[in-house]
Amino acid sequence: MNSENKILTIVGSPRKKGNSYQAAKKLEEMMRSKGDYEFEYIFLKDLNLEECKGCFNCISKGIEYCPIKDDREMIQKKINESDGLVLVSPVYVMTVSGLLKNFIDRMAYLCHRPEYHNKKAMLLTTTGGMGINETLKYMELAVGAWGYDVASECGLVNAPWPPTETVKNKNSNILEKSAQKFDSSLKSDKQGVSFKNYMGFKIFQTISGNVKDYMPADYEFYKDKEYYYPTKIGIFNKIATRIVLPVIFFMMRDLGPGAHKRE
Ligand SMILES: Cc1cc2nc3c(=O)[nH]c(=O)nc-3n(C[C@H](O)[C@H](O)[C@H](O)COP(=O)(O)O)c2cc1C
Repeated sequence: MNSENKILTIVGSPRKKGNSYQAAKKLEEMMRSKGDYEFEYIFLKDLNLEECKGCFNCISKGIEYCPIKDDREMIQKKINESDGLVLVSPVYVMTVSGLLKNFIDRMAYLCHRPEYHNKKAMLLTTTGGMGINETLKYMELAVGAWGYDVASECGLVNAPWPPTETVKNKNSNILEKSAQKFDSSLKSDKQGVSFKNYMGFKIFQTISGNVKDYMPADYEFYKDKEYYYPTKIGIFNKIATRIVLPVIFFMMRDLGPGAHKRE
């Protein structure tokens, strides 16, 4: 972590001072007691963030070809400037809020060309009672695909009636454990590329070379790279990937751009 210790919290609830924000503020308090953290909040509700039009330009050609010019760029600048991300959403019908889903859609190109492989994230959700696992799993898939190391995940129950002391204490303990994990991860200088991440990189790199006419942005991003960022790749990763990759592509043989010609 660099000297600024900046954490950006993105709140996906339409209720600005609702349960999700209250939980995020408690998390901030807990984190501040552990280290020198500076928190900034973004409320998606307050921003001009239009719905994705589905043109696919960001993925195939590049984010600069997105026809919508709104606050997405500003949010991303803040993400780029921060060391850690806290993504917060209430559970809405067993998944994230529409506000957060739209934001994730607007960042879809990051799932092809991740930019945050050196950063840590924490996921936080609040629910009336159900859907914590489903919501956290979805958030983890999205943020993990952007490259983040998801250091901790936290789900709190806020039923629509006043909580008992037991529920309050339980929530507080769950949040504290997650804060501890996030703090340790931000302070850790553990380096190294996991097999899973290296495999993901090689899969995308290989595909991007095969479909360069359809996905020029992916092709430009992956060509001549050994990994997402300059680093040393261990011998185990290299050998294991060389063995596993052909098997994966054999299993995916009907999905490639020339597959219809072989039918
Ligand atoms: C549209 C909507 C859908 C919801 N869906 C669920 C749900 O699927 N499961 C659940 O347990 N609670 C559900 N809730 C309750 C919220 O998840 C819960 O009250 C949450 O803490 C609200 O956070 P907020 O105050 O930050 O908006 C829903 C609430 C709303 C308004």
